Amino acid sequence: MRPNLTVQIGSLTLKNPLIAASGVYGYGLELADFCPPESLGAVILKGISLTPWPGNPLPRAVEAAGGLVNAIGLENMGVKAFLTKALPPLKARKAVVGANVIGRTLDDYAQLAQILAQSPVDFLELNISCPNLAQGGLSFGSDPDQAARLTADAVKKAGDKPVVVKLPPLVTDIALLAQKVIDAGATAISLINTVPALVINPRTRRAALGNVTGGLSGPPIKPLALRQVYLAAKAVKAPVIGLGGIFSALDAAEFIVAGATAVQIGTAILADPGSPLTILKDLFDFFSQENIPSVPSLRGTLKGPNEP
Ligand SMILES: Cc1cc2nc3c(=O)[nH]c(=O)nc-3n(C[C@H](O)[C@H](O)[C@H](O)COP(=O)(O)O)c2cc1C
Repeated sequence: MRPNLTVQIGSLTLKNPLIAASGVYGYGLELADFCPPESLGAVILKGISLTPWPGNPLPRAVEAAGGLVNAIGLENMGVKAFLTKALPPLKARKAVVGANVIGRTLDDYAQLAQILAQSPVDFLELNISCPNLAQGGLSFGSDPDQAARLTADAVKKAGDKPVVVKLPPLVTDIALLAQKVIDAGATAISLINTVPALVINPRTRRAALGNVTGGLSGPPIKPLALRQVYLAAKAVKAPVIGLGGIFSALDAAEFIVAGATAVQIGTAILADPGSPLTILKDLFDFFSQENIPSVPSLRGTLKGPNEP
């Protein structure tokens, strides 16, 4: 039996459930020789704002606890350059492309949604969960009512583009937040973003990052991400896109068992830009060996250790 790995996110059909996460795949074809963008279900580019942003002071990334702590600060080229420079080469290769949207105010998100609605972008991912911004970012994602308002405004302006809302890891009630943004009109949710973190050198008594605090990603956050995906997927009928520390096909399968329809690969791409292709091949083999015909057959099948 040849498994069918296609998945559906609203009106969007992805040829497989693997998506390059925002911030690790560059702005176009930088990694295409290692991982052709059209071989994945989709690629999501670095967060974009209305105008270019400079980002945080250096250093911006440091290894810690078996993962990575970063505080890039969403340096980006702005939406105009994104549409004219970053997007065309990807669309010419028939890649499915998501735009990760970031703003300082609710209106920034709505304005960006309106601009992107007229573009060849395939879907939007609203980043309301970045821990490295003084204003905006995580503050929208920590308040379910504000997250719902931001989502409703952006969905209204996004026309027929699917809108994914990217949620933070540390909130009081992830199920409530998931429900609120889906009720506000989001097509799907993605989770988790990086986990707020701090790396200190005790000899110099200095923080490792220019921004002092940052966000932890990679293998150490996987168990936390799996729990949040599991709780969110139980709370909503809409598709859930899981991420956080996925480095192998078995990691990806864990997220699908927890309830994810698709998964994103982040830090693993920084460690090895070809890793999504390995994960894709191994995932196909896993489905074949386990006689699983499709992603929906595996999705949300988690049982307790003592259940029959
Ligand atoms: C260097 C770096 C830059 C990132 N930039 C963004 C970004 O622009 N927008 C966003 O939503 N997430 C961004 N993220 C978060 C990732 O997309 C992902 O949510 C997080 O790293 C957890 O997944 P992982 O453990 O597979 O890396 C970034 C992560 C890293 C490591």
